[in-house]
Amino acid sequence: MARVGPFDLRLHDPGEPRSVADYRRRARRALPAMVRAYLEGGADDGVTLAANRSAFERWRLCPRLLRSAARRDLRTTVAGTGLELPVALAPTGMTGSFHWNGEVAAARAAERAGTRLVLSTASSYSIEEVAAATGEDHWFQLYPWGDRTVIGELLDRAAAAGYRALFVTADVQVIGNREGERRLGFAVPPTLTPRRIVDAGLRPRWWYGFLRHRRIALANLVTGTGATEALRSVAVHQGLMRPDMSWDDLAWIRERWQGPLFLKGVLRPEDAVAAVEAGATGVVVSNHGGRQLDGAPASIDALPAIVDAVAGRGEVLLDSGVRRGTDVVKALCLGASAVLIGRPFLYGLAADGGRGVSRVLEILAREVDSTMALIGANSVAELDRSYLSDRKDPRCTPG
Ligand SMILES: Cc1cc2nc3c(=O)[nH]c(=O)nc-3n(C[C@H](O)[C@H](O)[C@H](O)COP(=O)(O)O)c2cc1C
Repeated sequence: MARVGPFDLRLHDPGEPRSVADYRRRARRALPAMVRAYLEGGADDGVTLAANRSAFERWRLCPRLLRSAARRDLRTTVAGTGLELPVALAPTGMTGSFHWNGEVAAARAAERAGTRLVLSTASSYSIEEVAAATGEDHWFQLYPWGDRTVIGELLDRAAAAGYRALFVTADVQVIGNREGERRLGFAVPPTLTPRRIVDAGLRPRWWYGFLRHRRIALANLVTGTGATEALRSVAVHQGLMRPDMSWDDLAWIRERWQGPLFLKGVLRPEDAVAAVEAGATGVVVSNHGGRQLDGAPASIDALPAIVDAVAGRGEVLLDSGVRRGTDVVKALCLGASAVLIGRPFLYGLAADGGRGVSRVLEILAREVDSTMALIGANSVAELDRSYLSDRKDPRCTPG
């Protein structure tokens, strides 16, 4: 680098990633196509996957001017836990396939940012390993599959390891039809071809981490690591899958788990009300990032009616499609107390391990902060629907 008058002169200026989209581009370069398909996949034709983005665009922010928004307070509370920013990390399975340090790196990055990770049942590091590697009480996501002995054991392990809140995922009655994954060989068992092997070999950093640490098995279900164990654990997990789950099972889990409990995957107001009436602390409005039921509504469009139906009796979180600070602010204006991000933190993880996750959280925090300044809001608590236009009418006219 040289200085020429007021300019920096460089031969090449790749720059630091500045947005979630920049991290997405880096992640796509870092990962073999097969793993990329698992990360990005949507069900069927990707209608809901695309709607998760386009729906955010239809809601417009209506700025208030000259409001002296000098000190923006991004703090919020979820399940009694104070967070420094209204963004937490969603549960994702087999996170070690994106970067060998998987959920450990993600949970540590969440802590550095003053927020939390929801650890998936299908994680690459076990409940106990993540608890031992971190200093805060993180949250645990339960796939309520298998009989009550299996579920009870997972709940006991999570409680004993100090996880504070439970997220029960109800929208995986069967696995969504993600054809893209299967087309690229991400299946049980995975299909390797010379081309796919070369494709992985061309990503030496990923390949090295994969071969050296072999962190791809579902660590809560088996003790070994490596590809054979991974396949065995996925088979065990899928064998536990139960499309016959009912509200009785939720009631049983509610009785069994002492701490705060959220039902994840809610898209209908009456399901949110039923969850709260069954004793849930709240719900996560989510379509699983468009990975399950294609044709389901975008979460942000489902949110307002659910907030109205719950009417302060429970907390409402949102995920699916959040990529910008403006998206976070829109969700908060519509009544969510925080959002979860899935793919955005995985992009950071795949591109640059824990540092990438930290940077993604920093980027989103900065974007939320500047959005609040630009709309004239001093705190998360101040955000309400008056900052949004009607989604069918982009003008900022009252009423
Ligand atoms: C690779 C991947 C794996 C996931 N695994 C799980 C999981 O194990 N449990 C779960 O409840 N949700 C899982 N999800 C869904 C996320 O928790 C979250 O609902 C979704 O990613 C939010 O959408 P976004 O990716 O657009 O932020 C997964 C999502 C991705 C992208």
